[in-house]
Amino acid sequence: MAATETPSTSSDFLDTEYRLRDVGLFLRQAFHTFRATGAVAPSGPALSNALTRFLAEREDTGTGLSILEAGAGTGPVSRAIAAQMREGDTADLVESNAEFADYLRDLTTTDPALSRVADQLTVHQALVTDLGTDRRYDLIISGLPFANFTAEEVREIFEYYFTVLRPGGRLSFFGYLYTKQVKAVVAPRDAFLQQARSSWVVEEWVNRYGIGSERVLPNIPPAWIHHLRKPIEE
Ligand SMILES: C[S@@+](CC[C@H](N)C(=O)[O-])C[C@H]1O[C@@H](n2cnc3c(N)ncnc32)[C@H](O)[C@@H]1O
Repeated sequence: MAATETPSTSSDFLDTEYRLRDVGLFLRQAFHTFRATGAVAPSGPALSNALTRFLAEREDTGTGLSILEAGAGTGPVSRAIAAQMREGDTADLVESNAEFADYLRDLTTTDPALSRVADQLTVHQALVTDLGTDRRYDLIISGLPFANFTAEEVREIFEYYFTVLRPGGRLSFFGYLYTKQVKAVVAPRDAFLQQARSSWVVEEWVNRYGIGSERVLPNIPPAWIHHLRKPIEE
């Protein structure tokens, strides 16, 4: 629905109501925990849909996929994942912030897209790297704010993702356009250098395993996405 349209059906009203609740909670948490939250608003529909591209475009092989969403926040991407889930698929929705995790648990019973597949979803309140390495995923969708993390933290998270990804599995993650340029002008030198170092780690993984990148301009703020694939054999 375009921003200027007026909701006209009960499901439009429900959607708008959910989005307003999401934005309110997100802004409060961003204010208190900006380093971990790393954004000023939940992802919009264009970004959520682009992140779930592989689910939407997959062929019907008859086997379920195991999906990990890291940093689910107030659940805009979780909803897009749920909307594409089929019988046999499972998804772990991981969120470190306890208020967001409680909110997500609530959504699995109240939100139409999430409640449709509620018995295929598990919400974890945890740091993603604390989930353990005895799991395997076909698809990881990451919303973690790498720009706010140190290079060591970013490396640890990529190593974790590539441990739990199955060979041939995909990782899609996003960040915001121009944050480095903005930090170069407004942030202290240390903060700028920290982001530069963590972005080099991101680049290293993209150069090694990248299979596509895109820009999503209709999002607040505009975003980039990288899609990576773990090789079948290394
Ligand atoms: C940029 S927000 C994205 C939220 C949501 N996916 C969206 O697109 O609107 C990042 C989220 O990651 C969570 N987060 C940060 N570090 C995390 C970690 N190590 N493990 C799990 N969640 C984390 C934050 O609490 C926040 O909700």
